[in-house]
Amino acid sequence: MNELQPARGTHDLIGEDQRRHQHVIDTARRIAASYGFDEWATPIFEDTRVFARTLGDTSDVVTKEMYSFDDRGGDSVTLRPEFTAGVCRALVSNGLTQSLPQKVFLAGPMFRYDRPQKGRYRQFHQIDIEVLGSAEPLADAEVIACGWDIIKALGIADHVVLELNTLGDKESRQAYRDALVAYFTEHQAALSQDSLARLDRNPMRILDSKDAGDRRIVADAPTITPYLTEAAAGFYDGVKRCLTGFGVPFRENPRIVRGLDYYGHTAFEFITTKLGAQDAVGGGGRYDGLVEQMGGPSVPAVGWALGVDRLALLLDAPPPAPSGIAVVPIGDNAETVALGILQTLRAAGLRAEMAYRGNLRRRLERANRIGARAAVILGDDDIARGVAQVKDLATGEQEAVALTELAERLR
Ligand code: HAM
Repeated sequence: MNELQPARGTHDLIGEDQRRHQHVIDTARRIAASYGFDEWATPIFEDTRVFARTLGDTSDVVTKEMYSFDDRGGDSVTLRPEFTAGVCRALVSNGLTQSLPQKVFLAGPMFRYDRPQKGRYRQFHQIDIEVLGSAEPLADAEVIACGWDIIKALGIADHVVLELNTLGDKESRQAYRDALVAYFTEHQAALSQDSLARLDRNPMRILDSKDAGDRRIVADAPTITPYLTEAAAGFYDGVKRCLTGFGVPFRENPRIVRGLDYYGHTAFEFITTKLGAQDAVGGGGRYDGLVEQMGGPSVPAVGWALGVDRLALLLDAPPPAPSGIAVVPIGDNAETVALGILQTLRAAGLRAEMAYRGNLRRRLERANRIGARAAVILGDDDIARGVAQVKDLATGEQEAVALTELAERLR
């Protein structure tokens, strides 16, 4: 058998890669908690119906990218391509629609059968927040402010821009849709096949086309602004006012339509110039109809997801490898005593390790190799005196320290 490789579009996270990844998630978890979000964990696979209609019959995610299969019992299940639909399902399944608002944070792997390239994978990872049960523009702005704070805390805000748009309410969208159909019908001879197919079913998605010919036509297409109802325009103004209050800079981009179909009103993306074609580090918006589609009551909601793999690529320097204490016994008797010392150091919250075998020289070599900051060297004489030799591995300095004071001294 040939050597096995990770499946196409998946990758292992080891060493620096895992530290980058974990740093993104830890930072997001901390900041989301400061905004009052509670962490949920929903299943990695769901009944296919959770995603199939709700994300949009014409969305790429549903038509081309879902990992769906019949399980051994004949039920169709799907590896989650995103969190939002599962969170709405969970709100209903757990009877939480009477306990609103719910402010939820999640982190975990996602699956999309996409064409892999830098920053685009088949198994990737998202952090995600959702506010379920608030129809106020303040909720949209707060959700965005939380995302922006995470981006700032990661030290990448200089390379990321928040692009903001509104998709209006149903009435605005219907009027805009008619205007787009009229405009694109005039230009249909020059439209790509994909866009032609969308003309009837979802003309707004043409605005998102990557085809160069389409893009020339899209450049002059009408924007939604003149078609917004007074209520929709007022809502959008409210979001912008609150964003300003939160001190979040944004750029309006009337071309943002998002790849999933459940959005209305607010739509936004966090865009970077540093990742080539995969320029979206995150995106989200308002989705007031999704909980109802899961069989619940009408629950207004707004949220976003950020791509952990993309954020990890943008981090300037990887978080440093952890550096701990190496316990180095000399001889069998000392080794047994060292086990107790290891446990004391660990119980004090220190990272402490002992090589499984080897003489003094070998064990000190290993201590240096794993980047330990200090070695606790234990000979029989030291034990008899109730001390250990503590060697600073950066400076080489060594001194005797009472065993009872070790943990305190190494902190
Ligand atoms: P999305 O725009 O489909 O939104 O995905 C959010 C982010 O996930 C993207 O901006 C990107 O950073 C990352 N991402 C998506 N696909 C891939 C991939 N194949 N490889 C690497 N990263 C990827 C959603 O998923 C919505 N559920 C967001 C949301 C939450 N809306 C409301 N609440």
